Amino acid sequence: MPVAVTRRRLLAGIAGAAGLAGTAGTAAWASGLFSSDPALVTPDSALVAHAEAARRRAGAATVTATLTPRPVTLDLGDTTVQTWGYAENAPGPLIRARAGDLIRTEVVNQLPVATSVHWHGIALRNDMDGVPGLTQQPIAPGRRHTYEFTAPDPGTYFYHPHSGVQLDRALYGVLVVDDPTEPGRYDTEWIVVLDDWVDGTGRTPDQVLAALQSMGGAGHMGGMDMGGGMAMGGMETMISPLLGGAGDVTYPHYLINGRVPTAPAVLTAKPRQRVRVRIVNAASDTAFRIALGGHRLTVTHTDGFPVTPVTTDALLLGMGERADVTVELTDGVFPLVAAAEGKTGQALAIVRTGSGAPPAATGRPAELDRQVLFTSTLHATDAVRLADHDPDRTHRLTLGGAMMPYRWTINGATFDQSEPLLVRQGERVRLEFVNRTSMFHPMHLHGHTFAVAGTGVRKDTVIVLPNQTVTVDLDANNPGQWMTHCHNIYHAETGMMANLAYQA
Ligand code: C2O
Ligand code: CU
Repeated sequence: MPVAVTRRRLLAGIAGAAGLAGTAGTAAWASGLFSSDPALVTPDSALVAHAEAARRRAGAATVTATLTPRPVTLDLGDTTVQTWGYAENAPGPLIRARAGDLIRTEVVNQLPVATSVHWHGIALRNDMDGVPGLTQQPIAPGRRHTYEFTAPDPGTYFYHPHSGVQLDRALYGVLVVDDPTEPGRYDTEWIVVLDDWVDGTGRTPDQVLAALQSMGGAGHMGGMDMGGGMAMGGMETMISPLLGGAGDVTYPHYLINGRVPTAPAVLTAKPRQRVRVRIVNAASDTAFRIALGGHRLTVTHTDGFPVTPVTTDALLLGMGERADVTVELTDGVFPLVAAAEGKTGQALAIVRTGSGAPPAATGRPAELDRQVLFTSTLHATDAVRLADHDPDRTHRLTLGGAMMPYRWTINGATFDQSEPLLVRQGERVRLEFVNRTSMFHPMHLHGHTFAVAGTGVRKDTVIVLPNQTVTVDLDANNPGQWMTHCHNIYHAETGMMANLAYQA
């Protein structure tokens, strides 16, 4: 489908003519500019407003929140770091609504740089998706911006900036959308957020990125294509038997709910209680293998949507993935461990239902090395299964790239060079993620929850293993322009990102 001029090239031209060349790409996007391509449904289109109106429910409540991204001193437990966060601890404030509610969040940017907030996994109105340069202008330092949207589907979601590598600071928080009809077969609930931590330990995420990008020049690794798996700031070889190349960055800390293993978060309940644990992998470059010592986990949802429950010893979550598990707790004190897959280190929380000494910070529950479940092998429940339908259109997204130079691509192009992937409203669209690299990539799509071929499991983020293909189907029922990208934030930022764009 020929498009005479791509949006980005068109805008590059406009920016150049206006004398803005040389500013960062996002700064060139001025108000109204993204309306200038008549071939695509733009965020300010009546179609977007119409889709939102169809989601509104009579009598729905409005949930309000304020997020103030700002420089903070974060206490990780036995160490403090200077960073940027939404609060004095991590994760940021929990936002909780019921399906169909309107969520209104005012963002007050007290950072020294521009930011944005993306609502990961929510099928929301395109103009509230939080992607600077595509759906909005960046929120400049000192400025405010209000996000207001209906959250149609219950589940476990999260929010984070879509600006540079800001996610690799403490800029993330959980959004839970409750199901008013949820049978609630559990007694209590915990929210468990996993993260890999570097900021304030001598390197900022921006410095990590710059170092990755400069490695392609001369130096000890010059000329070698490591294809992933080469550590930053160390020689750790990050290879996982489950994932292949498992990451690019060595982190000094891994966190559960903002705490290091030597001063862990403590989750309490009573013996024999059933707990629902909502697990979010908010890391930037780390997949986690998760287990609870002495227990098995029953996975009931992934990426917000229900699955036929499966009980497992351990669970693997890529960056951007979520899982809800239920556990029937026994009596005692147990380690909840999220081991950094293919890396050295782990995150830990303590589960306490009775008396006993706390587990060691480095203790490794045997369950971690038994059966490890990938969420893509789960099956959708009948209630959320996508109806059988042949695809009206198929896009193949070939994932490429290398460590030297540090550059990640979809169909051979970095995002700034890419053509939009066109779809039309009402189509069944098939995406084929073809991984031609030796690293795994957790591929995420905004604004939609696709069905993974084979199992039908509904997800918005799916792990694509090295040299494998994952096929997903979606109904194009949410008009606008939507990022699809690797949720390794360093891969996304250096190019592994594309625009799934509805044609006008
Ligand atoms: Cu959580 Cu564009 O991503
Ligand atoms: Cu990737």
